[in-house]
Amino acid sequence: MDICAYQGSDQYALYAYWRALGENIPYFFPVSPERWGVCLLEDRLDGEFIFDLLETYVAKDKGQVVGFAQVGHPRFSWDAGGQKYDNPRIGNIRHFYFETGRHDVAKALYARAESFLKHFPHRHAFYHIYGMSCNAHHGKLHLSLEHVDAFLRGQDFQIEHENVTYRLALDDAAQPQCDALRLIPQPRDFYGPHEYVIWLDDTPVGTLKVRYMDLMNGEAAKDAVYLTLMAIDQDYRRRGWGSQALKVLCRMLRGKGYAHLFLDTAHTNTGAQRFYERFGFSHQGCSRSYILK
Ligand SMILES: CC(C)(COP(=O)(O)OP(=O)(O)OC[C@H]1O[C@@H](n2cnc3c(N)ncnc32)[C@H](O)[C@@H]1OP(=O)(O)O)[C@@H](O)C(=O)NCCC(=O)NCCS
Repeated sequence: MDICAYQGSDQYALYAYWRALGENIPYFFPVSPERWGVCLLEDRLDGEFIFDLLETYVAKDKGQVVGFAQVGHPRFSWDAGGQKYDNPRIGNIRHFYFETGRHDVAKALYARAESFLKHFPHRHAFYHIYGMSCNAHHGKLHLSLEHVDAFLRGQDFQIEHENVTYRLALDDAAQPQCDALRLIPQPRDFYGPHEYVIWLDDTPVGTLKVRYMDLMNGEAAKDAVYLTLMAIDQDYRRRGWGSQALKVLCRMLRGKGYAHLFLDTAHTNTGAQRFYERFGFSHQGCSRSYILK
């Protein structure tokens, strides 16, 4: 088994490996190998390049890909107050995948990752905001990959944050709607999410942000939309307006030809989970980010 630095000639084999890996992962959306290659090496978040240093290692056994890892230094981050800042002293394991049972592969990939991470005071793995744009920037590790989770914990990584992922088939969402409620699209730049302010008669009562995955990935087929933010103003909560706003959104998305709405929410946000499940979303498993103390 060899660990090599990624080369352009690895792109198609690595893409095939990633597609097989993501078969049961809801937020690994279909994307062309070419677009995937761009997301792997030159990805942007809302127009800005995400990483200024990236190293990608590929593990091969008898010429077959048996794992890969990618580490990077992000160009920006957000502090606890939500303020964006440049040049965080963060080293992040963005990808870490290996075949089940191949502890030798995991150890060899981790040795490479560790020699990168040691230069940074803050070390993360699967830090969510640094995920790939073709995954709606969902960067966490899906827990169907239990062996990766077990390996990272074995290296003293601790859970930083856990999310629940949900999916709704838009066909199932046909329900009566309230005419008093409208979604007004906001001006946006080319790369950003689509934002809609929720108006109840003449009062703004909340916000929705979505990413249309076909627009992000250059895919012809319209399938997935990712709901990245949903909030109803405090004074209007638990009065049915959140449910009404989602109904209006679903009708609009169906009208545009989309088939599925995805989202994730914090594992601790049990109120939101109840809200989405009551609306008809189905649980698609948990995902995690990690921190090395
Ligand atoms: C989650 C949120 C969008 C729901 O909007 P809403 O207008 O309050 O929702 P609705 O009134 O339509 O609620 C419908 C049902 O969802 C469930 N629900 C909503 N909020 C809940 C809460 N905080 N705790 C428990 N159940 C909740 C309940 O079953 C509720 O029915 P009930 O009031 O008859 O018990 C809103 O509470 C909010 O903005 N929360 C803060 C931001 C947030 O957490 N966003 C989601 C993260 S992705």
